[in-house]
Amino acid sequence: MYKSLLIIQCDDEMGINLQLLGLQAIPRLAKRFAVELDDFSGFLALYGKPQEEFRRVYEKCGRILKQLFREFDVSWWDVYSGSDIGMERTALARDIGLEMDDMVLDVGCGRGYFTVAAAGCSRRIIGLDGMNGMSRHGWWKNFKESVSEVELTHRIQGLKADAQFIPLKSYSIDKAVAIHCIRNFRNKQVIRNVLSEMNRVLSKDGEMIIVESIPIARNKAQEAHLAMYRCKCNYSSGDIYYFSQEELLEMFSDTGLKEINVEVFDYDLSATPPIFYLDTSRLNKEQMEKAQEEYIAAVDMIRKYGETSPSALVIKAAKHPR
Ligand SMILES: C[S@@+](CC[C@H](N)C(=O)[O-])C[C@H]1O[C@@H](n2cnc3c(N)ncnc32)[C@H](O)[C@@H]1O
Repeated sequence: MYKSLLIIQCDDEMGINLQLLGLQAIPRLAKRFAVELDDFSGFLALYGKPQEEFRRVYEKCGRILKQLFREFDVSWWDVYSGSDIGMERTALARDIGLEMDDMVLDVGCGRGYFTVAAAGCSRRIIGLDGMNGMSRHGWWKNFKESVSEVELTHRIQGLKADAQFIPLKSYSIDKAVAIHCIRNFRNKQVIRNVLSEMNRVLSKDGEMIIVESIPIARNKAQEAHLAMYRCKCNYSSGDIYYFSQEELLEMFSDTGLKEINVEVFDYDLSATPPIFYLDTSRLNKEQMEKAQEEYIAAVDMIRKYGETSPSALVIKAAKHPR
């Protein structure tokens, strides 16, 4: 029998992630739940409420939000700029050293949360991503909608490609950045290949900038984030647990990059909330129980302390000729 377990941070009080779900995600998720929750047997045990009730609350949240957005004329930008995700990406774009005449490549751009922010601090920006695979169906559509909502189509270009083989000329980019996506590459070898490609496309005076969270909690809300993210890595696919600073730097030096500059930024915002969907069809009873235990512990922490992303490491390296 198809068994599925939905893991998402949301509760009746319109929990912590509604700011993220915003305009596009809710109807999409609500529709998806309708199909995927049907056969799930452990829902009540995990959430303490029947799935029907969960679905009703979720759909209600979606309707309320849509209605509010319409009534109060709330735009995509309003949601984005008032969200932790938007605030963090805007702060990063401001703080990592982009310049107004830069041609920027945003590797692993996803739905364009950083791309949109960086467009305000650069000349042009290319958002590169391999999606729609890996449960990211519809993300290019989200990317295009966001870019057009903020009227930045003349400054932002989407590019669908594997970052290990960037379809751009060597020496064509001033800043090649990868924001919160190193952990989404398949393994360390892929990360090394991507770093090497980013280095190739950089101009002579170009710079590579990687932003990635590190697994160190500075407060309880960050501890809660790490507990949930650990759960996500253990029981869903597509994410590697955060690397330590040493591991990240090792991958840079393996790729031949030197003169590396490291800074730590701590905005303490819910900038990368670990939302995920877990298909438990591959888990046996014991693993299922363990997954539930870890998930419930993480949810309890989030309810008690909230959830914020741990500090981000900002690693910069100048172009290294090969
Ligand atoms: C966490 S998401 C994007 C985060 C985004 N930069 C932001 O600021 O919100 C990571 C992205 O990396 C992309 N990705 C993973 N492996 C990739 C690869 N080999 N080539 C291109 N993109 C890849 C995924 O499709 C995903 O959209």
